[in-house]
Amino acid sequence: VYHRNLAGYRGRSPRVLEIGVYRGGGLAMWREYFGAGAVVVGVDIDPAAAAVGGPSPVMVGDQSDPAFLRTVSERFGPFDVVIDDGGHTMAQQVTAAATLFPLLAAEGAYIVEDTHTSYWPEYRDQEETFIGWVRGLIDALHANHDPSGDPDSVWATTLDAIEISDSVVVLRKANRFRPFSEVGGGTGFLFESRTAAARISALEQREAQLVGELERLREAPTATPESDEVRLLRSTLREARAEMAVLARELEATRRELSTTQGRLLDAWEHIRRMRNTVSWRLTTPLRVGRLVRRR
Ligand SMILES: C[S@@+](CC[C@H](N)C(=O)[O-])C[C@H]1O[C@@H](n2cnc3c(N)ncnc32)[C@H](O)[C@@H]1O
Repeated sequence: VYHRNLAGYRGRSPRVLEIGVYRGGGLAMWREYFGAGAVVVGVDIDPAAAAVGGPSPVMVGDQSDPAFLRTVSERFGPFDVVIDDGGHTMAQQVTAAATLFPLLAAEGAYIVEDTHTSYWPEYRDQEETFIGWVRGLIDALHANHDPSGDPDSVWATTLDAIEISDSVVVLRKANRFRPFSEVGGGTGFLFESRTAAARISALEQREAQLVGELERLREAPTATPESDEVRLLRSTLREARAEMAVLARELEATRRELSTTQGRLLDAWEHIRRMRNTVSWRLTTPLRVGRLVRRR
């Protein structure tokens, strides 16, 4: 897991933070692994750790204190890699990750060790476990597809991948592009038809409910066709049906637009395919490749 996620930083002078120093063994190992030029910094709550860092600076403080972590990042970051091997309680792991992931370098990696403590009662110093919090990140990462998600959150915009192994979680950071519709040229397509369809289905349910209530009232011995209750129900039903009709028209228009644009796109692709098969295109390929290489 470590080598797969960290090999790319070796020899590139990364800034690395290890939370949990103990006797400094990890700091020494990371200095050797990442190579000359790497800045390897430690954090530990135990003041004794300040003396064991050797060439690595060690800041003494609590990993569940966001202000302290921000100071460490301001002083030595932005970190390319953070390895959390500190106290392993839920509050410590969640607070440190929630604070430091947003402050990581653009292509950083955040590693949390010993995540099996999520299943050990003695490490549960808060309701939400670290693994439970990571489950929430899976949803946050998909916010562009989830009508109730926040597409502007740091997770939707920069959490590129979550790697979950037995006892280790890796959060990888990258600047993500929003899903972009080749067809419509925007992200509206993600929600438009689905939300209209969902609203229509909710209104259909409401309609069935209102019709049921009207039936019941009609059969009630005390009801008259013109009682206030019946009139109110009829007018609510009329409004619901009118709204459904408008939504159905909107949905139909969106679907037509989507299908027209898809058709145009297919035509364009077919045009490109035919052009690429022509003799002149093939003959001039080396020229284009040459131009591309020169530009690089
Ligand atoms: C497992 S040891 C670290 C071992 C070290 N990473 C290594 O590889 O040699 C855990 C360390 O986390 C520190 N620690 C415990 N709670 C902490 C907290 N709330 N904030 C920072 N460090 C903490 C302990 O003092 C201890 O030194």
